[in-house]
Amino acid sequence: MNNILLTGGAGYIGSHTALALHKAGYQPIVLDDLSHGHEWAVKYGPLVRGDMGDVELVRSICKEYQPVAMIHFAAFIEVSESVRDPTKYMNNNYRKAAKLFETAESEGIRHTVFSSTAAVYGTPQHDNPITENDRLAPINPYGESKLAAEKALRERVGISSVALRYFNAAGAAPESGLGEAHDPETHLIPNIILAGLGRKPALNIFGADYPTPDGTAIRDYIHVLDLASAHIAALEYLLTGGKNIACNLGTGNGNSVKSVISAAEKELGHEVPKNFHPRRAGDPPRLVADNALAKKLLNWSPRHNLSEIVSSAVAWHKQNMEKTNL
Ligand SMILES: NC(=O)c1ccc[n+]([C@@H]2O[C@H](COP(=O)([O-])OP(=O)(O)OC[C@H]3O[C@@H](n4cnc5c(N)ncnc54)[C@H](O)[C@@H]3O)[C@@H](O)[C@H]2O)c1
Repeated sequence: MNNILLTGGAGYIGSHTALALHKAGYQPIVLDDLSHGHEWAVKYGPLVRGDMGDVELVRSICKEYQPVAMIHFAAFIEVSESVRDPTKYMNNNYRKAAKLFETAESEGIRHTVFSSTAAVYGTPQHDNPITENDRLAPINPYGESKLAAEKALRERVGISSVALRYFNAAGAAPESGLGEAHDPETHLIPNIILAGLGRKPALNIFGADYPTPDGTAIRDYIHVLDLASAHIAALEYLLTGGKNIACNLGTGNGNSVKSVISAAEKELGHEVPKNFHPRRAGDPPRLVADNALAKKLLNWSPRHNLSEIVSSAVAWHKQNMEKTNL
């Protein structure tokens, strides 16, 4: 009875969590339509290729594998696309997710860990680390769709749940052949590396006039393996009777865009070509997590620093150039 249903398990964070589940003695059962995931990233259990909104498919998976819990990663993740096509995001990230939760509950899944995001907070009204009590005020349809899914999950009285609000996921597990390969790639660290390795003409930097020490925006980068271990901690919290919670997953430390670029250039051994652009609408100067709740309730702490994030990402990209499909 160790099966865990992993929707979106062929994606970036899901595949690293499958590795952590495997190491912790669980069997991941991946449900992914491969719209953005990769077959090569599913290494530790069966892959069922299909849509999480397909009620009959989810029922048949539950009957066959009798999962004791679900970790729900499957979603579309591009903020700018969500602004252009909000319906696509509400349909997949909220409506299909709500249907999935309903089906899972009716099939006897009693615990769910959900991939939420710092985007549920929108633009913070202060410069301090963000706590779970901060205002929930997403400023784009992506954030709205994730907040709506959090609420839909909490409505399922038969399921106890943890909503994990990730800050900036980054890094890789090159020793396990896993890394970040989004298409399109919108995240800072892989984009620095892709520009550094000549796979993109230059790195685009949006805003160098923020009210921060070096003028670039500050974010909280958390190693994907620290996110993965938090999912195991959340799962075990729920399996031992923990109640519904939402908690932040970040390191509590902020790094500016320029400092991340410097760390990556050091690792690459050379400078990266850069183009500076004006700030993007809706990009706040500083987003850093207060992670005290996750530390206390989940008995979890992040273990990796920025230099380990960057070195693991560079190593994975160098070994897997053909997997970053540009
Ligand atoms: N990457 C980040 O920095 C970050 C930050 C905050 C939150 N999140 C959340 O974490 C989760 C995973 O993000 P990721 O970076 O691994 O993204 P990803 O795109 O690599 O993984 C998402 C996976 O879900 C699958 N999928 C999407 N819709 C599906 C559907 N209807 N049915 C079945 N499979 C479907 C995709 O094929 C993909 O494999 C998402 O829910 C995202 O909102 C990510």
